[in-house]
Amino acid sequence: MIQEGKAKIVGELPHQISRKLEVFYNPVMAHNRDIAVSIINAWGKKIQAADPLAASGVRTIRLLKECKNVKFVAANDCNKNAFAAMKKNFKQNKVSKSKFSLHNNDASMFLLESCGFDYVDIDPFGSPNPFLDSAVKRLAREGILAVTATDTAALAGTSPKACMRKYWGVPLKSASMHEIGLRILIRKIQLVGAQYEKALVPIFSYAAQHYMRVYLQNTKAKTAVDDILIQHWDLGYCDHCMKTVPVFTNKCVCKRDYVLAGPAWIGSLWDDKFVKKMKSWCKTCSSLIATIKKESAVGVIGIIGLDEVASRAKLSLPPKEFIIAAIKKKGYKVAPTHFSGSALKTDAPVKEIVNVMAFHH
Ligand SMILES: C[S@@+](CC[C@H](N)C(=O)[O-])C[C@H]1O[C@@H](n2cnc3c(N)ncnc32)[C@H](O)[C@@H]1O
Ligand SMILES: [Zn+2]
Repeated sequence: MIQEGKAKIVGELPHQISRKLEVFYNPVMAHNRDIAVSIINAWGKKIQAADPLAASGVRTIRLLKECKNVKFVAANDCNKNAFAAMKKNFKQNKVSKSKFSLHNNDASMFLLESCGFDYVDIDPFGSPNPFLDSAVKRLAREGILAVTATDTAALAGTSPKACMRKYWGVPLKSASMHEIGLRILIRKIQLVGAQYEKALVPIFSYAAQHYMRVYLQNTKAKTAVDDILIQHWDLGYCDHCMKTVPVFTNKCVCKRDYVLAGPAWIGSLWDDKFVKKMKSWCKTCSSLIATIKKESAVGVIGIIGLDEVASRAKLSLPPKEFIIAAIKKKGYKVAPTHFSGSALKTDAPVKEIVNVMAFHH
């Protein structure tokens, strides 16, 4: 018996996470599910939710038990063993029969055969691509679509060709590679939305060690879709200034050529009003939410790797807190970032960071 949040799940904790497990339960993804619980609680709206790739059912059992506003869930998995485990788990958690339905179908078929949901959670092995079309089609007005991608090698730039094929954008290996990958993923999902005249705006997104995750809220309005599309741009990285910016001009202000990435979403990764309402009892998740609150307020694209700045300037690296305080004092916006423990989000030029490091020296 595994306890996660308010759910008790039958299953064996795996020695090694593998898609060959009879019924997939990944304890590392408990944080992913904690954040989902936090988002749905912050939303507060009465909803019907779909879990098309449910495995043990732990995700939707938690939503039902931990979010008062979840009225009904439909959980699905194509794997027979997973379906049997789901049945057992819903029963054992004493979920009232009027609050759920269980399905043993292909995820896209399951979605297309349903009437629609306020919340659809796509949490696959690898790429979410096969399920995006049906998920978008069945997403209600004002609904939230949650998407996990675990193929971070493609998105973060280890396999640029795979990223082009799957996500229609060029990634870039740099300090900002996870943020750029997340923005490429968001644009891809938004393009799927756009063809059905659904405007999908990110309300919460993050990159974790082995996956990327994004929550997008749907507005069904043509003009809202147009507003999304004008925020898809190429990104440019200037190796001299160390900044990542939307490429509005051919060259960086320092006259050097950019290294190009994208196209990608250049709008916000978070909705501040939403994030303000998010709470979590889990230490890791509340610290993620707290960091995101701060970095969201800086409002710039890309991050600055402090190790890289220090090594280029041949200076030793002062504590991050010292750098943050000193840059703030100079009147710039600056915050730690969840994308990396050794980087900052800031509107300060890198030479100001170098000055701060030299001063500490
Ligand atoms: C990563 S696991 C899901 C984990 C689950 N969401 C959780 O939070 O514990 C992916 C699941 O998708 C199922 N699956 C894979 N392809 C599918 C498809 N085409 N249709 C339905 N289920 C599928 C697998 O059997 C597996 O249980
Ligand atoms: Zn430059």
